[in-house]
Amino acid sequence: MPEMRESSLVVVANRLPIDDSVAPDGACEWRRTPGGLVSALHPLLRHTPATWVGWAGGTGPAPDLPDVDGVRMRSVPLTGDDLRDHYEGFANATLWPIYHDAVEQPEHHRRWWDAYQRVNQRFAEATAQVAEAGAVVWVQDYHLQLVPGLLRDLRPDLRIGFFLHVPFPPPELFMQLPRRAELLRGMLGADLVGFQRAQAAHNFAQLVTKVLGLPATDRRIAVDDDRIVRIGAFPVSIDSAEMSALAARADVVERARRLRHDLGGPDQVILSVDRMDYTKGIEQRLKAYSELLEGGHVKVRDTVLVQVAVPSRERVGQYQILRDRVEREVGRINGEFGRVGEPAIHYLTQPFDRAELAALYRVADVMAVTPLRDGMNLVAKEYVAARVDDDGALLLSEFAGAAAELPQAYLVNPHDLEGLKQGLLAALRAEPADVRARMRAMREQLREHDIHAWARSYLSALDQGGSLLTRLGG
Ligand code: ADP
Ligand code: F6P
Repeated sequence: MPEMRESSLVVVANRLPIDDSVAPDGACEWRRTPGGLVSALHPLLRHTPATWVGWAGGTGPAPDLPDVDGVRMRSVPLTGDDLRDHYEGFANATLWPIYHDAVEQPEHHRRWWDAYQRVNQRFAEATAQVAEAGAVVWVQDYHLQLVPGLLRDLRPDLRIGFFLHVPFPPPELFMQLPRRAELLRGMLGADLVGFQRAQAAHNFAQLVTKVLGLPATDRRIAVDDDRIVRIGAFPVSIDSAEMSALAARADVVERARRLRHDLGGPDQVILSVDRMDYTKGIEQRLKAYSELLEGGHVKVRDTVLVQVAVPSRERVGQYQILRDRVEREVGRINGEFGRVGEPAIHYLTQPFDRAELAALYRVADVMAVTPLRDGMNLVAKEYVAARVDDDGALLLSEFAGAAAELPQAYLVNPHDLEGLKQGLLAALRAEPADVRARMRAMREQLREHDIHAWARSYLSALDQGGSLLTRLGG
């Protein structure tokens, strides 16, 4: 392949921010992909002369993609085997469950590890081709943990950052991984390894000492080639100003009004927006809601639950089982408690555009975000940003990274069914003054700690003394 060194900032992520999908008229169109990583990075890079290296979805040759808001798209192809063994296998059926408290059983297959290495090598090579001499390269997430090490071998001139969007597990869980040493060494190819929370950095430091015998603190690790790798917590965020502006738009306010009307004009709307993932606690939430209906604590005409659950990783067995179970449970609850024209749960599996999401957030009196474990959970932050009216109660799991930054939310342990029910009732019945005081405090926190602050803090730590931030307008 010809050399095409083109960018001084390269973001490397499993997914590109766009995906091909079919428009209503049957034409192929590029659409923003749902998911936290894209939501975080897309607003950040807009109009920055950067390249995004990633997978465009699907299998077969890498498509030629248009620039997206001034950012070059460089697609990395995956074959059918890569998709099955790297993305669906090692990334999402081995690492994902281990990194999320093993709430589902992780699987181990040697073939998956081979694919993980192969695909990481391909991403490293594609990145080495597009990065200018001395460029800053920012590798994202658990799909690509070997890329920092592989890239350093190919291009020692680069400054390499790695950021993990998901939790990094405690040593006793990580130690289960047959290839734990290789995974740690891959990450240590970076100059800076960033996590969502300080606990994750601590887990990582403990592991590199335990597994690799390297001296480590929660801030610095001395590696064999006489380098110091810095580590730290950089909680990711959203473009809160953009979401607030969207939510304040007259058409969005009107759409929210219309939605409430279409929902039958209930006193209270509870909303959940998740990828269909077993980490999101959807089944536990449905059970809590069902028991509240059964106990007569909430009534269908007064209260509705809107559950948006966009299908995700649809060929992975555990995700198929989850979807079946959720849909059966929604059917059961609606059958048992709904009335003609008045379902207990409005269940939607479609991807929505940002304006529709903002309208949904504005109509939600209670936003129920109750994952069993989540690196951050940007939906919680989007809801807060959208509540420009300072209203709305956020019910938030203690096990979402966002809970550390939004302690004013109504916090619950989603593993505790009674606690979850009580939390939901507390949020539904809260005094308006209490709801507003909490929302104001959360909005203030989010205004200061938005996606730009996140990028500034990470990139200034990575690019010590460099000019990257000035170029990014930071
Ligand atoms: P994760 O990274 O696990 O998917 P997050 O809550 O951090 O979880 O991020 C999810 C992102 O995906 C949010 O930005 C949210 O707005 C977006 N999203 C979730 N559901 C939908 C949907 N149905 N349509 C469009 N975007 C969605
Ligand atoms: O960080 C969690 C994550 O894997 C992100 O990389 C991604 O934005 C999101 O979940 C959606 O997952 P997928 O890319 O598998 O659809």
